[in-house]
Amino acid sequence: MKSSFTFLLLLLEAVVNVRPVQEASLFYPYGLDQKDQKNPKLDDGSSKKLSLSVPFTFYGKKYQTLYVNNNGVISFGSRVNQYTPDPFPLADGRSFVAPYWGDVDNVLGGDVFYRETTDPTLLGLITKQINQYFPKIPFTATWAFVATWDHVAYYGSTSNKGNTFQAALTTNTETSFIILNYKDIQWTTGAASGGDAETGLGGTPAHAGFNSGDETNYYNIPGSRTDAVINITKTSNVNVPGRWVFQVDDFKVTGVPTEMPKVADSNNCWL
Ligand SMILES: *[C@@H]1O[C@H](CO)[C@@H](O)[C@H](O)[C@H]1NC(C)=O
Repeated sequence: MKSSFTFLLLLLEAVVNVRPVQEASLFYPYGLDQKDQKNPKLDDGSSKKLSLSVPFTFYGKKYQTLYVNNNGVISFGSRVNQYTPDPFPLADGRSFVAPYWGDVDNVLGGDVFYRETTDPTLLGLITKQINQYFPKIPFTATWAFVATWDHVAYYGSTSNKGNTFQAALTTNTETSFIILNYKDIQWTTGAASGGDAETGLGGTPAHAGFNSGDETNYYNIPGSRTDAVINITKTSNVNVPGRWVFQVDDFKVTGVPTEMPKVADSNNCWL
C-alpha cells in the first residue's frame, strides 16, 4: 500500500514536472539579498532621483535618470504621486513605464525594491529570453534595471491583499527592451479611486503599459483600467503567462492583441 502510494506521488510529480514551470522562473531575483534598494514607506511615495550608469533609450530619447514610484510606475523626468491612473497617451507628455499603475500603499503592506545590475548571470538569462522572443533582433544585454513590487497593499485597505509584479529595463546601449512580469495580482483599485476597501476591486482599476511622451508611441495592455486587469497574470505577448515584453528604443510591438486575450483553459493557448 505504502509503496504504491509512493509510486502515485512520483507519478503525480512527473505529471506536474512536464507542465511549463513558468511561475518559478517568471521573476528575476530581487530583495535585500540581491543588494536591492528599497523605497521609503510613504503613501504615494517614490525613490530618490536615480542616476543610471548607462543611458536608457526610450523612443528615441536617452534618459540618464529615473524614479521608481510606489504607485506602480517607473518615470523618466519627474516623480509620480498620482494614484488614479489615466490611459495612455497622457496629455501632458510624461514618459512612463507602468507595470501596474494604481494606488499602492507600502505603509499598509509590502515593499518596492530596485537595483541597477550588470550581473553576468542575470544578463545572460535576459539575453536568452529576449533572443527567444525576438529572434530577428540581435541583442546581448549589457545592463539591466530591475524594480519589484513585493506584495504591496492598496490605499485604504482593510484586507491583507497584496500585489507582486516586476519591471525590468534592459539595453545593449542601442537596442532596449522592457519586460513586465506579473506574479500575483490580488487587487485592482485603491479606496480613493472608487475601490472597495475590503476587496480592492471596483472603481477605476489599475493601468498597465507604457507612454513615450509623444502622442503616437504608447501601449495600453489589454484589460487596463477595467476589472479584467486582475487577470494580467494570465496574459502575455510572448507566450509566457504573466509576462509582457516590448522593444522600446523605437516603437515596435510584436504579437500584441488589440483585445483582452481570453484566459485559456489549457496551457498552450495564451493568445
Ligand atoms: C478572470 O479570469 C477568469 C477565468 O480564469 C474569469 O472567470 C473571470 O471572469 C476573469 N475576471 C475578470 C474580471 O475579467
